Amino acid sequence: MNTIEKFNEHVAPTYGRYDLVLDKGEGRTATAEDGKTYIDFGSGIGTNSLGYCNDKWVEAVCAQAKSIQHTSNYYYTKVQAEFASKLCEAAGYDKVFFGNSGAEANECAIKVARKYSFDKYGKDAERNIIVTLVNSFHGRTIATLSATGQETFHNYFFPFVEGFVNAKANDIDDLKRVLDENDGKVCAVMFEFVQGEGGVISLDKEYINAIFEECGKRDILTVADEVQTGVGRTGALLTSQLFGVKPDITTLAKGLAGGVPIGACLMSEKTSGVLTKGTHGSTFGGNPLACAGGNAVLDTVLSEGFLDEVCQKGYYLYQKLMALDEVENVTGTGLMLGVLFKNKKAADVCKACLDNGLLVLTAKEKLRFLPPLTITYEEIDKGLAILEKVLSE
Ligand SMILES: Cc1ncc(COP(=O)(O)O)c(C=O)c1O
Repeated sequence: MNTIEKFNEHVAPTYGRYDLVLDKGEGRTATAEDGKTYIDFGSGIGTNSLGYCNDKWVEAVCAQAKSIQHTSNYYYTKVQAEFASKLCEAAGYDKVFFGNSGAEANECAIKVARKYSFDKYGKDAERNIIVTLVNSFHGRTIATLSATGQETFHNYFFPFVEGFVNAKANDIDDLKRVLDENDGKVCAVMFEFVQGEGGVISLDKEYINAIFEECGKRDILTVADEVQTGVGRTGALLTSQLFGVKPDITTLAKGLAGGVPIGACLMSEKTSGVLTKGTHGSTFGGNPLACAGGNAVLDTVLSEGFLDEVCQKGYYLYQKLMALDEVENVTGTGLMLGVLFKNKKAADVCKACLDNGLLVLTAKEKLRFLPPLTITYEEIDKGLAILEKVLSE
């Protein structure tokens, strides 16, 4: 029995997988079981932010594994203390709750948003609605699926969680309509600055400003889901910094620990007092290995000039993609880009790229690029040469 047969015998078939067994990785190159190599333009799904087996990251995670790999959250660890300080100081937040995934970070955000209103306005006010955007994606748990503004996800698992209402993204009038219709009942507006799974669609600056203005007027919390856009992906530590706004809550996951499972819910001074003893928890949350990986990621991402380079490499990739004949348009920011083709189907291009040694992603009808933040110009050129060849066939 080969690896794929063995895998399929017992792993639940929830993913459409390619017939590819990845065995090793180094830098921005993955090697398959059969020895074939692949340039990586996907980083998992934006998760291996420093590429495969980055020296400093490996050193940090291995040293931590040799020191202490887990303690329950009944005790303190030095590595979690260090990581929380580094993250909160760099991001400009007061407190953080650590979980293990994007969905878990968003679950925490939902709980904080609801309890904030509960504490301030009382149970009877029923101020618990969270407005999320059409075409958003917030995770696969029942609550985060309920928050997700895409009908295709609202299937099979009834009943979904109540208290989520959608507004159209980039439509200020619709946002105001939804807030007016639910006047006094909304505790938060939750959004992605760039809708990743929804097709790499950026929110307009005016729309973001309107969210903050309307929420400010009505004492509604702003919740930024930066699970995909955060940790340098768009050229800033947080995409909110590019937009010049400060959400009351920001969630992070994917690239935060460079490939070790992690989720983080960042709380501003306004929201940091909401979670009290016994109101939330997670067995693995703040795991030492994840925090050690996170420290290595932050040390690199926050090092002098690193984020400027992400911006420059992102712009380089954007220009090169725009220059391709078959490309209709390119959306996104930094090293988070989506490509719409004139005639070709993104899924077909993605598969053909794989056959030619390039790992890349799709998002709806687009080809999606989330390369490691450490990718070099040479590697970008190499990957683009493969894409060009595929598009010419
Ligand atoms: C914006 C956003 N939020 C939440 C999630 C869910 O993250 P996870 O799969 O780690 O639970 C994702 C995953 O793609 C995401 O892109």
